[in-house]
Amino acid sequence: MSRLPAIRVAPPGPRSRELASRLIAVESPAFDARRETRARQSGAEQSPIVYERGEGSNVVDVDGNVYVDLAAGFGALLLGHVPSRIAAAVAAQEQRMWLALGDVYAAESKVLLCERLAKLYPAPGARVMLGSTGADAVTAALKTAVLATGRAGVLAFEGGYHGLSHGPLAACGLHASFREPFAGQLNSHVTFAPYPHDARSLAVTMGAVERALATGAIGAVLVEPVLGRGGCVVPPAAFLPSLGAASARAGALLVCDEITSALDVSVQAAIVELLRDLRAETGLSMLFITHNLALIRTIADRVIVMTEGRIVEAGPTLDVFNSPSAEYTGKLLANTPTVESALGR
Ligand SMILES: Cc1ncc(COP(=O)(O)O)c(C=O)c1O
Repeated sequence: MSRLPAIRVAPPGPRSRELASRLIAVESPAFDARRETRARQSGAEQSPIVYERGEGSNVVDVDGNVYVDLAAGFGALLLGHVPSRIAAAVAAQEQRMWLALGDVYAAESKVLLCERLAKLYPAPGARVMLGSTGADAVTAALKTAVLATGRAGVLAFEGGYHGLSHGPLAACGLHASFREPFAGQLNSHVTFAPYPHDARSLAVTMGAVERALATGAIGAVLVEPVLGRGGCVVPPAAFLPSLGAASARAGALLVCDEITSALDVSVQAAIVELLRDLRAETGLSMLFITHNLALIRTIADRVIVMTEGRIVEAGPTLDVFNSPSAEYTGKLLANTPTVESALGR
């Protein structure tokens, strides 16, 4: 279902406020501490709304306000809230079996899932390790790197966030204060390099990367291809190719911890194809917010170009690409990076 926003009570309404204070009384301090920090930084009240339910593109709060959910579970709900086909599959599995015996006796559904996931990878021979969180995935990657290279060292980046369980936390460059209380329990072989925010800082980053790799102790280079929680930073195009080449030369594994937007082109193509199939099968409408012009050209029927919060152009995708009417669109198209420019040629 997709509805326009409808605000019945000025948010946060009384029921949201009541439930938020009840949560503060019983939950660990995470939710409250974050709210207090934001209130201190912004000088404004930061009382949250409390969700009652999700329906497609909307969330409804406990006071009956309807919102369009552009956060979508931080990008985890690509198909919206409670999509009916997935809800039906979950309900069917619920009737069949809740828990098999993992690596002793697998369930048939696990076999089918792993096969489908492996097929999404563009090269043959992909293997799957299932986990339930992002931190699980990063932990699995760090363990894989130790087994593959025999080196416990990890090179991570300032501003990077990879989850809060022990493996990823040691490599959390977002706030040193996240790590400090647990320092005695964490991997002490983690080195941090600055994340390159622009082309000028790339040389400094790569200098730090080369120095760390030259020690011969690094088995994993852990990076967010686009810095997510650290400020939505898109690094210069030459960064990932340079990092990949430096890691390969040093025999370290490059671990890309994707939030949602920075998938490598081949994986991105597989996912875009999957979304396209779903659109054809279900009649789904999708809104992509992206700087990736190649992606827009492949997937979108219509495009809206914005700069500084204003719409400067809108129309069918091919018309906009072939004859842009706004100066900004023209500049954007002229500055589209190519593989050659990414490699610095
Ligand atoms: C890039 C990245 N990696 C890992 C995580 C951790 O995911 P989870 O909270 O599911 O463990 C996050 C969460 O925000 C993330 O942004």
